[in-house]
Amino acid sequence: MKVLTQFRKSMRRDRQFGFMRSVEDLELDISHGAILYLENLCVSFDGFKVIDNLDFYLDAGELRCVIGPNGAGKTTLMDVITGRTRPDCGSAYFGMEIDLLRLSESEIAQVGIGRKFQQPTVFEHHRVYENLELAMAGNKRVFPTLFARLSGEQRDRIDEVLGIVGLEALAYRTAGALSHGQKQWLEIGMLLMQDPHLLLVDEPVTGMTHQEMDRTAELLTSLAGRHSLILVEHDMDFVRSIAERVTVLHQGRVLAEGPMDKIQQDPRVVEVYLGE
Ligand SMILES: Nc1ncnc2c1ncn2[C@@H]1O[C@H](COP(=O)(O)OP(=O)(O)O)[C@@H](O)[C@H]1O
Ligand SMILES: [Mg+2]
Repeated sequence: MKVLTQFRKSMRRDRQFGFMRSVEDLELDISHGAILYLENLCVSFDGFKVIDNLDFYLDAGELRCVIGPNGAGKTTLMDVITGRTRPDCGSAYFGMEIDLLRLSESEIAQVGIGRKFQQPTVFEHHRVYENLELAMAGNKRVFPTLFARLSGEQRDRIDEVLGIVGLEALAYRTAGALSHGQKQWLEIGMLLMQDPHLLLVDEPVTGMTHQEMDRTAELLTSLAGRHSLILVEHDMDFVRSIAERVTVLHQGRVLAEGPMDKIQQDPRVVEVYLGE
């Protein structure tokens, strides 16, 4: 009984819309060119500084690669941006105005920050097309959308995303039958259904074939501009193939930042990372 009452409460339309309106009122201000401003960030776990006075800025439309040895704080950095981990100090702004530290995880998703975790989490028993449909509802638990009629505009967006991630020919295949790489692309497609301003992608090419890696590099590069992206990656060949600005994290700090060819020759970077 209790559960049902709670369920009904959570489904009340007036509440949902009231909630959404307040977050949607927030305007993303990128008039100064940057979409993300992280300053003096600190995160400690059990007294150990995992993020140590970190400053990080991302330009609107940029694709930034973040690399660094295991334990450097890369995933924690994404956790802070998405509200999963709260920093002990510092500030995190999305555009000039949106204070991420005052928003919940779901509010952060609503203002336009999407995250792709390492393991693909697609609905294996549903077709590719249906996965995108479900993602459009904004909430993976909202299944009724499956049975609702799609508007022409919604269908167009699904077709567009199918094209972007290169899965048109597999639209009616069950997601569980896709290769590992195809599942990763589908999940990126699911994120795109929300049309996020900023996409965070954590080690997408682990377990991919070389061909799939090349295709993923193309896909992520093609998303830059319309979206801003932060790509955390361990695979140096992959980062090299993307050839965008790189930030090297080490012990929770920015060790080096710049174009890949310069980064590769930086002796400090070679010491902590490339020579690993
Ligand atoms: N929730 C947590 N509790 C305690 N320690 C954590 C937690 N998350 C990460 N760490 C530690 O923080 C450090 C940085 O981790 P992480 O951000 O995952 O690094 P990376 O993604 O660069 O490999 C590691 O030493 C890790 O063990
Ligand atoms: Mg990590």
